[in-house]
Amino acid sequence: MNHAAVSWWQEGILYQIYPRSFQDSNADGIGDLPGITRRLLYLRDLGVDAIWLSPIFPSPMADFGYDISNYLGVDPIFGTLDDFDTLVAAAHASNLKVILDLVPNHTSDQHSWFIESRSSRDNQKRDWYLWREPRADGAAPNNWMSEFGGSAWSYDAGTKQYYYHAFLAQQPDLNWRNPAVRQAIYDVMRFWFRKGVDGFRVDVLWHLIKDAEFRDNPPNPSFRLGRPPHEALLPLYSTDRPEILEVVTEMRRVVDEFSDRVLIGEIYLPVDRLVAYYGKDLSGAHLPFNFALLSVPWNARAIAKLIDDYERALPAAAWPNWVLGNHDRPRVASRVGQAQARVAAMLLLTLRGTPTLYYGDELGMQQVAIALDQVRDPFEKNVPGIGVGRDGCRTPMQWNGDAHGGFTTGEPWLPLANEYAHQNVANLSADTRSVLNLYR
Ligand code: NOJ
Repeated sequence: MNHAAVSWWQEGILYQIYPRSFQDSNADGIGDLPGITRRLLYLRDLGVDAIWLSPIFPSPMADFGYDISNYLGVDPIFGTLDDFDTLVAAAHASNLKVILDLVPNHTSDQHSWFIESRSSRDNQKRDWYLWREPRADGAAPNNWMSEFGGSAWSYDAGTKQYYYHAFLAQQPDLNWRNPAVRQAIYDVMRFWFRKGVDGFRVDVLWHLIKDAEFRDNPPNPSFRLGRPPHEALLPLYSTDRPEILEVVTEMRRVVDEFSDRVLIGEIYLPVDRLVAYYGKDLSGAHLPFNFALLSVPWNARAIAKLIDDYERALPAAAWPNWVLGNHDRPRVASRVGQAQARVAAMLLLTLRGTPTLYYGDELGMQQVAIALDQVRDPFEKNVPGIGVGRDGCRTPMQWNGDAHGGFTTGEPWLPLANEYAHQNVANLSADTRSVLNLYR
């Protein structure tokens, strides 16, 4: 290891903001960029060093921003590019770094790339997505399943082929074997780096490359009823293909064209596969997200084992990292209870490596029960009733005891936890023994 100063992303603390739910500034019930700018002081006082924003780009919001229709703008719900520049300048003035979400695996079906691609078989963007012939009987090209339920293939009647989508039909997967696609996304990265962004968290990084022959996925022998249907198959051919490491290395080279930026990967894989994403001689992601704490049975022995396993698996000089919560998983306070959530905070903030906090976990925010008619998450809508819904961990930030917790003066897009009346920033700040002050 060289003896240059430790990087900000090594000694710092990352904080994930789900922009829809952090702070509304225009009374439409949805959080926005000016709202985040207003709350930077809170974040500085909390002691975090970087904020990662879930997607803020123009989107039809079929998957709440993870379906992007223009990589180079800001959705009007969140504000404008000027609001973004203001946020970055204010964050930097407060010594906070800004990390954006990069969603390179798929676009929205409303992105101009896909509209072109679907327009005809010989369109020059046809090969930017994954189009395949139907099988002889008209069925989908193979057995791959969408993570949000049903087949991962949708038929396009206009051009009589299927396109692949690992998530919603409104989220067609890009073809990462096509060099033009790679260059287009690398240019997106450069655009935001030039705007001063300090890094990217890359959405479903392990999904980018699919099997060249599109072989059927094998059945999963440990599949249990009550689990999401796509788990009935092992994603052997649809994810984590060997060629992905070449892509990660290329992305890292783009990051290294700029000084002091970070590359973080969203990767849900067993630890031995996860650490491969550091790349050969650490030429890949700086921080392949380590999600092991999200699913470990909460007892000391199991946790100790996973820490040992992770530390042992790390390549030499690779920097570890730890995550306790995110916008896809139940809140930690609900998984382990309020008392153990304090222990979990101590663990997260004292383990060797970079911690990532999820907004509101510092208040002990719980998973909120969502009534049927309030469900917004497409995963829950497509695969109802087995507890996969993600709305409950995306509810508005609880700032104070005012109506809607000070989050909005309008109607919040998701309900607040009932506990907000006492479990809020104003209240917990005043209580020296609160979980918030423990985090501080
Ligand atoms: C992972 C994101 O974290 C999740 O919220 C999203 O639905 C999927 N990727 C699809 O983009």
